[in-house]
Amino acid sequence: MSDELNGINADLAHLARLAIAEQPDDVRLFVARLVRKYRNANPQLAAQMDQYLRANTARGHNPLRKADIHQAQPNQQLPLDDESRLSLLKAFNFETKFEQPILSKEIEESLNQLIQERRQSTRLISLGLQPTRSAIFVGPPGVGKTMTARWLAEQLNLPLYILDLTAVMSSFLGRSGSNLRAALDFAKKRKCVLLLDEIDAIAKRRNDDTDVGELKRLVTVILQEVDEWPSDGLLLAATNHPELIDIALWRRFDLIVNFGAPDNPATKEAIKRFSGQDYGIFERWIDILAFVFAGESYSNIEREISRIRRSIAIGTASDTDLIENIIKIRSISLPKQEKIKFAVILASQTRLSQHAISDITGVSRDTIRKYKSEQIVTTQ
Ligand SMILES: Nc1ncnc2c1ncn2[C@@H]1O[C@H](COP(=O)(O)OP(=O)(O)OP(=O)(O)O)[C@@H](O)[C@H]1O
Ligand SMILES: [Mg+2]
Repeated sequence: MSDELNGINADLAHLARLAIAEQPDDVRLFVARLVRKYRNANPQLAAQMDQYLRANTARGHNPLRKADIHQAQPNQQLPLDDESRLSLLKAFNFETKFEQPILSKEIEESLNQLIQERRQSTRLISLGLQPTRSAIFVGPPGVGKTMTARWLAEQLNLPLYILDLTAVMSSFLGRSGSNLRAALDFAKKRKCVLLLDEIDAIAKRRNDDTDVGELKRLVTVILQEVDEWPSDGLLLAATNHPELIDIALWRRFDLIVNFGAPDNPATKEAIKRFSGQDYGIFERWIDILAFVFAGESYSNIEREISRIRRSIAIGTASDTDLIENIIKIRSISLPKQEKIKFAVILASQTRLSQHAISDITGVSRDTIRKYKSEQIVTTQ
């Protein structure tokens, strides 16, 4: 096959990939590149594509299409990976109000301080101090790191950009350093919050047999940027593998925020929030559910609650059956002493008979009675 035909095939395949992935902005950019590429060799084809592009841009100004409003601003052209034409950054703007995540007191305090520092930055700077410019969010999956970054950007009234590490690193490795730099440069020039989400993806790759030198360069790029980040912007990073983060990188961040699974009151608040208008159904189970969900992430709790709500809505089973079932599953995995504690909570906080509780937990009625009376004595 001739080189020319090979080239056309590759362009066609690439265009198909972008179109199927529903990335209209990337499709437009790629077509623009094709127009330039084919202008000399095939002016008719180039003119036709150019015409499609123009027709489409005009539609992009339709004020009802939110995503396009953002893209329509010329200075908002997001940086791309040259080879894949994928956006290196994803932009978020906040036309809809974003709900505040449920946060522990400590996190709330440190984020409030960060927000206040921003609001009073002139004062800080006049005293020779810099407001917090960078922070790293650490914690297991599903506890609100990404969500908090979005909320924080909204509180600061700044646009949020999230670095797409897959796009940065999807091209052949030699380009990832310059991709990363392009993305960081873009964000640095704007007053914005930049989130380097799941930053351990860079660190993790060190264990693969990919080019270690290249990965080191990536970390170095970030290191330099953390130090030089402008004080009217905010650089955030998030990870659930702190142990994989380069120690030198770690030290550079102004603030470290540790996220964790919700404690008991926060679990109850989460159940309340996620059960929405069905809270009436969940309320009487709240203590039991909080016990059942102990140690679970917010996103797991959300998923379970939504599953129950859906089952209730379509009439698969009653709330009692569904929740008893969850209790049963949870109770099987508990060690003996915990099982007893659980059975006693069930006996004192639900209307379940001791017989039913014994069935569910496998703890004998005698044991339940014994521990329950002991509990009453000790709490008096
Ligand atoms: N603190 C929270 N308060 C309320 N909802 C939460 C909270 N944390 C997580 N959720 C729910 O779980 C979803 C996922 O959370 P998020 O993406 O912020 O987790 P994450 O910590 O970034 O996880 P990962 O490490 O997997 O990226 C959120 O969209 C939200 O619905
Ligand atoms: Mg996340």
